[in-house]
Amino acid sequence: MSETAPATVLVFDSGLGGLTVFRDIAAVRPDARFVYLADDAGFPYGNLPEATLIARVRDVLGAAIAQHAPDLVVVACNTASTLALADLRARFAVPFVGTVPAIKPACAQSVSKRIAVLGTQATVSREYTRALIREFAAGCDVVLVGSPRLAGYAEAELAGHPVADAAIAAEIGACFVETEGRRTDTVVLACTHYPLLIDRFRTTAPWPVHWLDPAPAIARRVGALLQDRPPVSNAPPPAIVFTSGQAPSPALAKALQAFGFPV
Ligand code: DGL
Repeated sequence: MSETAPATVLVFDSGLGGLTVFRDIAAVRPDARFVYLADDAGFPYGNLPEATLIARVRDVLGAAIAQHAPDLVVVACNTASTLALADLRARFAVPFVGTVPAIKPACAQSVSKRIAVLGTQATVSREYTRALIREFAAGCDVVLVGSPRLAGYAEAELAGHPVADAAIAAEIGACFVETEGRRTDTVVLACTHYPLLIDRFRTTAPWPVHWLDPAPAIARRVGALLQDRPPVSNAPPPAIVFTSGQAPSPALAKALQAFGFPV
C-alpha cells in the first residue's frame, strides 16, 4: 500500500526571522513538507504603511497558497500577524497560525511583574498588541520597546556581516527598567528575527532576564492542528523561496544549510 502524502506547511516571514519558528515546527513534525517563503523584496515589514502591508501580505501569500496548496500556513512574523491575520483568515480557506507577542505567558511567569515587549516599531504600536496588554497584563508593568534596526541586524549577522555589541545594546537598552525596587525580569521577543540574536542579547544585557521566544508554543499549535495527519517517511527536504528571486550569498547559504535547507 502506498504511503499518504506529507502535510504541506507554508512558513512565511518578511525575511529570515521565521526560520526561528520553522526550526521548532520542523522538530515537532519532521515528516511534513515545508516551504519557507521569505518576502525579502518587501523587507523590512516594520517600515511599511499598514494598508500597503495588508495588501502585500495578501498578494504574496495568495500566490504562494495557489502554487503550493499548503495544508497549513504559519505567519512567522509578528509585524504581519498583528495586522493582517483577520484579513487572511477571511480570504483563504486554509488554516493560519499566527505569531503575536507572548504577553500573557510573560506576565504569568514574571516574578517582578515588570516585563518588556521588544518588537518592530510597527508591532509595538499596533492596537492588537495594546489589546493583549489590556486583556492579559493586569498587575504587571509592561514597557513597549520598538526597534527600527534589530531585524536588519539579524539579517546582517546571518549573512556573515557582524554587528557591534554597542549597536545591539543600544536597541535593547530600553527593555531594562528598574524602579520601585523592581527590575524587568522577562523580555518578550515580539519579532521572529530576534531569537537569531539571542546570544548577543544575553551578553549585552545589563542584567540577566528571561527572553521569551514564542516558537515552541507555535510549534505545539502546529503539532495539534496536524495531529490527524499520520507521520510519513516520504517528505522531501524543506524548500526556501525568496520573493526577490535572488540566490543567497555563500555565507547565507551556509547559514541556511544549518537550518536544514539543501541550498
Ligand atoms: N520578523 C518580523 C516580525 O516578527 C519583522 C521584521 C520586519 O520585516 O520588520 O515582526
